[in-house]
Amino acid sequence: MGCQQTKNTTCDNSSSVANCHGEKDIENDIEYRIPEVNDRQKELITETWKQLVDNISNVGVITFMNLFETHPSVQDVFMPFKGLSKEELSHSTELRAHGLRVMGFVQKIVARLHEPEKTEALLRELGRSHVMYGAKEEYVDLIGPQFVFAVKPSVADHWTDEVEESWLQLFRYMAAIMKMAMAECPDNGGQCRDGHTWH
Ligand code: HEM
Repeated sequence: MGCQQTKNTTCDNSSSVANCHGEKDIENDIEYRIPEVNDRQKELITETWKQLVDNISNVGVITFMNLFETHPSVQDVFMPFKGLSKEELSHSTELRAHGLRVMGFVQKIVARLHEPEKTEALLRELGRSHVMYGAKEEYVDLIGPQFVFAVKPSVADHWTDEVEESWLQLFRYMAAIMKMAMAECPDNGGQCRDGHTWH
């Protein structure tokens, strides 16, 4: 099955391992494509996660500090971090706690790599909650590259191009489903088109 670049999701054709499945947004006539993480990539992700899990609190902080530095407008989405300097962010217990929440979620996905229905349900729910947090769809694509940059030192010698591509593909997959769910919800947090409501 071929991949297509669509309005709201990215689907990477550049990698030989990229594969996609899609679904139709009837109202906007947009065909969404979800990048697929293959078995080899799942194996590499599971192996490297074991090596980096002890350092996950730092990885979360570094991921978000780099994200705020490269894309300052994203920092403003987080009320507790708005206007904080780099120095203040590096000592912020709230940023550490937030990073841990995000990494805890990544851990859930890694633990369910072979249960696509469960991961998709979790990611859809997360996408919906992010509309309410004020995260724009385009911001969701930014996390994967920053995560990769942040974890590299923890995995050191075991880091390869294949490992890097596996993690990037996982984040493309996560971002695609989150964005699909975000597109289903109005900005003001009312009822989502598929019938889910905010809680
Ligand atoms: C793959 C990408 C992401 C993942 C896995 C992720 C995960 C999470 C998780 C697990 C939470 C805790 C609350 C909940 O479960 O709803 C959260 C909260 C939040 N996220 Fe994300 N997030 C991602 C991307 C983003 C982006 C790109 C932004 C901003 C532009 C963002 C902004 C927020 C905000 C403002 C909160 C609420 C504050 C908080 O819980 O600390 N997230 N995110």
